[in-house]
Amino acid sequence: DDLLAAGQVAGKRVFVRADLNVPLAGETITDDGRIRAAVPTVKRLAEAGAKVIVASHLGRPKGAPDPQFSLAPVAARLGELLGTDVAFAADTVGDSARATVEGLADGQVALLENLRFNAGETAKDDAERGAFADRLAELADAYVGDGFGAVHRKHASVYDLPARLPHAAGGLIATEVGVLKKLTEDVARPYVVVLGGSKVSDKLGVIDHLLEKADRILVGGGMLFTFLKAQGHEVGKSLLQEDQLAAVTEYLERAEARGVEFVLPVDVVGDIEFPDLKTKAPANPVVAPVTAIPADVLGLDIGPESRKLFAAKIADAATVFWNGPMGVFEHPDFADGTRAVAQALIDSPAFTVVGGGDSAAAVRILGFDENAFGHISTGGGASLEYLEGKTLPGLAALED
Ligand code: 3PG
Repeated sequence: DDLLAAGQVAGKRVFVRADLNVPLAGETITDDGRIRAAVPTVKRLAEAGAKVIVASHLGRPKGAPDPQFSLAPVAARLGELLGTDVAFAADTVGDSARATVEGLADGQVALLENLRFNAGETAKDDAERGAFADRLAELADAYVGDGFGAVHRKHASVYDLPARLPHAAGGLIATEVGVLKKLTEDVARPYVVVLGGSKVSDKLGVIDHLLEKADRILVGGGMLFTFLKAQGHEVGKSLLQEDQLAAVTEYLERAEARGVEFVLPVDVVGDIEFPDLKTKAPANPVVAPVTAIPADVLGLDIGPESRKLFAAKIADAATVFWNGPMGVFEHPDFADGTRAVAQALIDSPAFTVVGGGDSAAAVRILGFDENAFGHISTGGGASLEYLEGKTLPGLAALED
């Protein structure tokens, strides 16, 4: 704010590292939440007379250009939201990027092509990342870190570039960190955490940490089957991470010892095959209690009794953090669990935080009003790692 007020950015080339990693179906953006979240910082800089160079990754290309991961559709959407043309550079540090930046007038905005089209962006090797950051630094006079969703990545544009330019945190990062601090420092209780998503291995760190913090942990999504198996249930053809059974068993025991309530579904919705998410052709859903999941069924959502149970366990919370869909919400036959949890958050008087790319996208795709939640984070992995108490490279790089 001080820099803007003092006219410090006028006429300067300001590099904004945003997280515009949005879900795409072909070239259609299916959820533009992250683009909308990036707009205020870009707009303020442009209004303050900066030449704004926005950059992001999209998906996980293999360090080389790959048209299916182009940010071109994002440039168009960003322009619509800003109400101005956004110049799109066809590369990140090549001729197109240089010419695009040179062509910017004060107050104009450009978007570079996907940073991950360069192997240097994600390289493990410091020198390789540094070399790419050097080239990015040539494009700009200053750096604003505002891609909260990527701050857990030690990548060139997130971690190495700010060290090479005068830098500041953007408004989105400031807001996100402010909210997550509330969950780690002086959380209002009961503190209920709802975890979903497919793999329990992605959530081990956060479960480990939350066992010391939360009062109640509700588990849905594909990861629930590893918990059910650890409790001795058969899970049919459902997703199962055998190698995580020991860790899950240990968590369940620790939760009991600490008085943390673990809530698992009592029934599931499944099918004998995975639904077609492209055509969304009607599936053949079956409901089964968790004690009797048929051998030929794979679980795809939490069941109707579980929806009621989860809603009741959320109703008396003072704080709720939710990460990960309850089922395959992309198909209408398996979206009810995710819908029920979203509705329970809305109905509860608690301060509610939806963390995560997938769960944030889910609430919007299912048509919920974003303003009905306390906060919808733009960070999935980033918000989880923040709650785990880890040092996040993209925040550490901006601290000074
Ligand atoms: C996310 O979607 O969580 C962020 O954009 C980071 O993406 P990544 O997991 O591919 O690094």
